Amino acid sequence: MTVLVVGGGGREHALVWKLAQSPRLKRLICAPGNAGTASLAENIPVAASDLAGIVDLAVREEADFVVVGPDDPLAAGLVDRLQAVGVRAFGPTASAARLESSKSFAKDFMRRHGIPTARAEKFTDFSAACTHARNQSYPLVIKADGLALGKGVTIAADYPAAEHALEEALVQGAFGEAGRIVVIEEFLSGCEASIHALVDGKSWLMFPDARDHKRALDGDLGPNTGGMGTLSPSGRVDDALRRRIESDILAPFLRGLQADGLAYRGMIFPGLMLTAEGPKVLEFNARFGDPETQVLLPRLKTDLFDLLEAAAEGRLDAERPEWDSRAACCVVMASGGYPGSYRTGFTVTGCGEAEAGGALVFHAGTRLEEGRTVTSGGRVLGVTAMGRDAAEAVGAAYAGVRRIGFENAAWRNDIGAPEPA
Ligand code: AMP
Ligand code: GLY
Repeated sequence: MTVLVVGGGGREHALVWKLAQSPRLKRLICAPGNAGTASLAENIPVAASDLAGIVDLAVREEADFVVVGPDDPLAAGLVDRLQAVGVRAFGPTASAARLESSKSFAKDFMRRHGIPTARAEKFTDFSAACTHARNQSYPLVIKADGLALGKGVTIAADYPAAEHALEEALVQGAFGEAGRIVVIEEFLSGCEASIHALVDGKSWLMFPDARDHKRALDGDLGPNTGGMGTLSPSGRVDDALRRRIESDILAPFLRGLQADGLAYRGMIFPGLMLTAEGPKVLEFNARFGDPETQVLLPRLKTDLFDLLEAAAEGRLDAERPEWDSRAACCVVMASGGYPGSYRTGFTVTGCGEAEAGGALVFHAGTRLEEGRTVTSGGRVLGVTAMGRDAAEAVGAAYAGVRRIGFENAAWRNDIGAPEPA
């Protein structure tokens, strides 16, 4: 079996790491990959955004199965194009990926199918949006409709802040096409949790839960990022809540896909707010989370390829994956300045030492230069470790972080910290 993984971030390194353990794989290709995937797969320099290039690569290299990591190529229709040339692929078609790429589409879907979420209205007109915002209670949440790298969400404390966010999106076009429509929604309070479930159009298979840390700085301060670290299990979802998430969110989600005729064979990752009234969906992601994948896959004992293939072929109901009961923690080491501007090209040292100490070092923004690993992006590494409980996993992940160095490295010191009492 030849498998092609599309993408070059930490999530893709974790996917490649786990897929490489499958005895069913003869060859593993990653496009474009990073310095970490290079040691487990053949990196081929085709960008994930180059859909024609990826389809050509899959055909040329006779890939039997393609795993699409990031959201953009899914939204742009990579799975549709692979299927059109007869290549099996893991991920939703473009029309189903709109559940992530259009927040207003996702809101309409949730409303139609009775999935609990924040009350919301969509707007394209600035003055109509302002009139609505004036009559709401605060804080109020303003979201750009499309994909905006996690930067399209503003929690407005008062009306002037809401008006400013609306003006940026609808008048100044700060998010381009992604912000031509805005969703104004009710603020939900509670703790967040990341839920992952494989879906094959007929059934779902829920993974363990995880907790992301989206803000750049300790204490949940600073701007939103793609995610600065994760812990699994989150400590926030007990068995009763898992059953409720299945009955209130995943079951109506599947019924909704069927009712709307959406072809979805891939991963659904709802970001949840655990409110006093029960779990509510903040957003749908149509892919594996990053850095959630870096803590979920080390806990998976079953062959990942078997599971992804079963999802793509509609056979999930027969799968019974096994999970490691230990906890996993991932601490992201980023380039100082991320998610704003930052410099790259710095040599990374100590990954071998961290791994010798028991950590798994998943690369994200790295590349190989004359045999050295150098930084090439905002999120550089995801240092992951397991432990008998959360505290042990967190301690082991930070022990790994302390062995690694590169100029201007930045990370949070409170990933997986116990919940405030
Ligand atoms: P999203 O991209 O929609 O998941 O939003 C990014 C982050 O903004 C979420 O992880 C939450 O921390 C926050 N957020 C989004 N929607 C809401 C809401 N309705 N109430 C409170 N916080 C929210
Ligand atoms: N870590 C959040 C995401 O992947 O969207």
